[in-house]
Amino acid sequence: MNILVLGSGGREHTFAYKLAQSPQCDRLFVAPGNAGTAQIATNVEIAVTDFEAIKSLVLKEGIEMVVVGPEDPLVQGIYDYFKADQQLENVAVIGPSKEGAELEGSKERAKEFMMAHGIPTAAYQSFTASTLAEGQSFLETLQPPYVLKADGLAAGKGVLIIDNLEEAKEELAKMLEGKFGDASATVVIEEFLDGIELSVFVLTDGNGYKVLPTAKDYKRIGEGDVGLNTGGMGAISPVPFADDAFMKKIEEQVVKPTVEGLSKENIIYKGFVFIGLIKVGDEPKVIEYNVRMGDPETEVVLPRIKSDLVQLFKAVDAGTIDQEILDVDPRSATTVMLVSGGYPEAYEKGKVITGIDTIEDSLVLHAGTKEKDGKVVTNGGRVMAVTSFDDDFRKAIKKSYQNIAKLGFDRMYYRKDIGFDL
Ligand code: AMP
Ligand code: GLY
Repeated sequence: MNILVLGSGGREHTFAYKLAQSPQCDRLFVAPGNAGTAQIATNVEIAVTDFEAIKSLVLKEGIEMVVVGPEDPLVQGIYDYFKADQQLENVAVIGPSKEGAELEGSKERAKEFMMAHGIPTAAYQSFTASTLAEGQSFLETLQPPYVLKADGLAAGKGVLIIDNLEEAKEELAKMLEGKFGDASATVVIEEFLDGIELSVFVLTDGNGYKVLPTAKDYKRIGEGDVGLNTGGMGAISPVPFADDAFMKKIEEQVVKPTVEGLSKENIIYKGFVFIGLIKVGDEPKVIEYNVRMGDPETEVVLPRIKSDLVQLFKAVDAGTIDQEILDVDPRSATTVMLVSGGYPEAYEKGKVITGIDTIEDSLVLHAGTKEKDGKVVTNGGRVMAVTSFDDDFRKAIKKSYQNIAKLGFDRMYYRKDIGFDL
């Protein structure tokens, strides 16, 4: 099969790395890709939301499967675009339909879906500019901290957690006035859940599913989980506190009703469901759905999957995922993200990265990198993830740190405490 991966992060390098290992993968393309994907696939300089250009590439190269990394093309309807086109309808697209992608594209839609299918989540109400006063009264009935969520996609910045009631009321007004543009025209206010977070990943064909390994990511820039939110500074899989009994609860109370809900509502969904959960006491509660894999969670989840990824994706497309066997490496995987100094605020690009060739027992998964004059240089905030395995996550993380010591670029930064809370 000729396969195209859409995206350019560590997630997409990891997809390319796994797909390239399959005997069923013939030619592999990544658009737009990075310096890491360039070593194992053909990079094509096309934006992930340029559907016309993607169509031309697919037809020109005889591509039979498109694996969609980020949410934007999914929320914009790339699945439907392919299925509505006679020349493209037989191409397998790994990702949900536009309707399915609304589970990430609209927090209000996600909450309605959870309520309709009895999936445990925080109590909530949603408001628009015309119901601002009701929203402010609703805040008065809640205990702090207050959780305000922009309904639409806001580049991971649309969730505010505020301790003070007056400040929460002001923020609600600002959001409804357009603080996040159209994304906050509707705001979901929900009950604060106190507990520890984890993520569960499900690969579904819309009827059957496989529960993939769990992961926990570290979103804040600073050690001890302080400072600004980032796209993710590191991750660990599996999550030590997600034991068999808790996973069984998650499967029964969350995964099954989610997949059954999609099926009951006739929503076409052939891709990943990333379920963000908080463990409150002993109970799982859903805080969000994403309709794609996480980054950097992918960098620890996929390397643990020993089954042929092309085979799994073919089964997703054919609607036969239930017949596949998911073979998972029992060892722990950890990843640490190296970022450009200044990230997640302003940072410089174009710094030469040294030492990549010296890494032996860890995987170097590129994110914001590109090749320039025969050298690999930085090209983004999150630069590369260093993934390691061992029978215990503490040993694995030590390996990642030992290997990071051999890597360098001007103003390189990383968190030295990934896994500190486990
Ligand atoms: P989301 O984009 O919905 O995942 O929210 C971003 C972050 O806000 C999550 O990773 C949680 O840490 C936090 N969060 C979201 N909803 C809640 C909630 N109801 N209670 C406590 N924390 C929350
Ligand atoms: N690491 C969180 C995300 O991919 O949304």
